[in-house]
Amino acid sequence: MRKVWRAVLDQIPVYDAGKPLEALRQELGRDDLVRLSANESPLGPSPRAVEAIRREAASAHLYPDGGATALRTALAAHVGVTPQQVLVGNGADEVLAILAWAAFEPGDEVVVPEPSFEPYTAVVTLMGATVVLSPLATYDIDLDDVRRRISPRTKAVMLCSPHNPATTIVRGGPLRAFLESLGAEAPLVVLDEAYRDFCDDPDCPDGVRLLERHPNLLVMRTFSKIAGLAGLRIGFAVGTAEAIERMNRVRAPYNVNRLGQVAAVAALDDPEHLARTRQLVLEERVFLTRELSRRGYAFPPSQANFLLVKVPDAPAARQRLLAAGLLVRDGAAVGFPGHLRISIGRHQDNERLLAALGTRG
Ligand SMILES: Cc1ncc(COP(=O)(O)O)c(C=O)c1O
Repeated sequence: MRKVWRAVLDQIPVYDAGKPLEALRQELGRDDLVRLSANESPLGPSPRAVEAIRREAASAHLYPDGGATALRTALAAHVGVTPQQVLVGNGADEVLAILAWAAFEPGDEVVVPEPSFEPYTAVVTLMGATVVLSPLATYDIDLDDVRRRISPRTKAVMLCSPHNPATTIVRGGPLRAFLESLGAEAPLVVLDEAYRDFCDDPDCPDGVRLLERHPNLLVMRTFSKIAGLAGLRIGFAVGTAEAIERMNRVRAPYNVNRLGQVAAVAALDDPEHLARTRQLVLEERVFLTRELSRRGYAFPPSQANFLLVKVPDAPAARQRLLAAGLLVRDGAAVGFPGHLRISIGRHQDNERLLAALGTRG
């Protein structure tokens, strides 16, 4: 038989998202199993989004608006840009893939902090471009190191703030200095702000506000976290109209489904729900930070809706939590062996977590 599959696929493992929650609940015989491994919303979607989905369901036989006009218009008003500067994807995951299809080719280099959100390296590798890794300085993106790795071949730099899985932010001053240092022939700087809504550090930059001065920026955000719509897969990019126009050429004609589009518009129309979600996460983050510290655990200060906690034996601690009905991520799977990545849950889930984790031995 002819060789069909691309050799590069040998370098790309299948993404292991774990078993579906329902299957795990059945397997463990625990209806009360709570997933704190995927950084989902502890409050769920806005009732307005649920109602919009219900209303729209009867139109499921009709293709969605391929241009996602209403959603892009609402998003543009929400973040303060024009609709031409917004691209919507089937999750930020797809936005990344669209970017890669539109921008990366063999010979290009893309600087990626290591560790970071796994799909960055996958999309670059898949396009035949070269990943240039920039190690984190413990838990922080090291912008000086990233800068040193930029060469004339560098097509893009991937930054993530707050960082998944390290929970830290790139600060405003250093980010602006980094962007200024790139000069006229700057590569694309992708700023993944999937968790930005959970920042309360006044020094957390807003990528969209930096766009005017730095047109080489592309900001990525998602409805999966603050808006609680992970199951509908809605992510978006904000950039210059020119960047968005280029990316639009490679996306599938109907890449964002009908239910997702109306739910996302309704979510933006419910600022109280977004604020409630943010408040819950911030309050519970303070609570967990204090209580875990009191129990002897160490972790970087989180600006996200999850914590990266150092533990003596991560696989054993994960099993202990699973036995208590709490699913968390072993840090080894995301580049931090000896840690657990724990999403911030509802107060009762966080109480259960503390009880099951106990004092650091
Ligand atoms: C840093 C980061 N970027 C992007 C995404 C993808 O978001 P989406 O659910 O919109 O595909 C995630 C999801 O966990 C993430 O952690």
